[in-house]
Amino acid sequence: MNISNSISEKTPPHGGDVYHLARTLGLDLSELLDFSANINPLGFPPGIVAAVEQALGEIVHYPDRRCLELKQDLADYHRLSPEQILVGNGSTELIYLVARALKPKKALIVAPAFSEYEHALQAAEVPVAFQVTTEAQSFTLDAPLDPQGADLVFLAHPASPSGALLQPDLLLETAARLDDEGVFLLLDEAFVDFVEEASFKTHLARFPRVLLLRSFTKFFAIPGMRLGYVLAAPELISRLAALQEPWSVNTLAQAMGRACLADLDYMARSRDLVRQEQEYLLEGLSSLPGLQPFPSAVNYLLVKLTRPDFTAASLQKALLSKRIVIRDASNFRGLDERFFRVAVRARAENQRLLEALGHFLR
Ligand SMILES: Cc1ncc(COP(=O)(O)O)c(C=O)c1O
Repeated sequence: MNISNSISEKTPPHGGDVYHLARTLGLDLSELLDFSANINPLGFPPGIVAAVEQALGEIVHYPDRRCLELKQDLADYHRLSPEQILVGNGSTELIYLVARALKPKKALIVAPAFSEYEHALQAAEVPVAFQVTTEAQSFTLDAPLDPQGADLVFLAHPASPSGALLQPDLLLETAARLDDEGVFLLLDEAFVDFVEEASFKTHLARFPRVLLLRSFTKFFAIPGMRLGYVLAAPELISRLAALQEPWSVNTLAQAMGRACLADLDYMARSRDLVRQEQEYLLEGLSSLPGLQPFPSAVNYLLVKLTRPDFTAASLQKALLSKRIVIRDASNFRGLDERFFRVAVRARAENQRLLEALGHFLR
């Protein structure tokens, strides 16, 4: 079967659309090596299996809609109070909830960015403006942000898809300026667990309009379970909670979340592995002709093709013939057909990616 000819030309809007790809290609899911979704290569913490088995007995009841035990564990882990936490069915649910609940007159998205910010704002009929950052800025802010009349700002930290971290002073200055002007800031920390010390959580108490968006998906490798949360001032959490659909976080997800937070050894091993493999992959990509990877603080790398004979789409298609999936990043606002993104995976898989890229690019 000619895999290259049988895939759709249309770029999927997100990474990780592997069910669709496998179906289109007539393959089993296990035959695809997915570099398009940025999931911890260590897999999920082993303790979640027993936790889920135990929690199965409870699914004859509705879930605890307040997620009290999980919130207490999160509060202990982050040194915050349970009143500063709202748990959701993945952080994506919470992006939509924030857009709906805060009803801003205008929102500003620092781009390139996760496309669901824009979709959520559109669904809430909120006008959206973009502050597009450039390659020279490492695709994130390099000066305090001017909200340009918006009353809600979306900013990812670390940036997505570049993985760049903001200078801590710059982030503080931006938060202070937005606070002075009465602007809400949704700081998307979906990937910050890989560099937890960079989280803005230690400043949360000073900023009543900052919302930190967190996810179990990436770091704990449970995208299929759907579990995320917001950290914010208690008044803001109550405002969001009042509009959240009841029981959106199921019993098994709550049990899994608690088991994840209990495994500090897994967290340390994950951070070490990703740091080491990220260096390996960055070096390997840099040594290939026509590839320019950008430095990243986390488990994904944005790469620019600096040669005219390939686009991200044509490279993606070529790699699919070897059953490797990368994220064509051309549909991010501010990027173009030269950009793609890869996840950092385990050594043997990263080697397979580098070999396949070498085959096409050398
Ligand atoms: C930057 C960023 N934020 C948030 C999310 C949402 O993650 P989830 O809904 O799985 O928690 C994603 C998913 O790809 C993302 O890339």
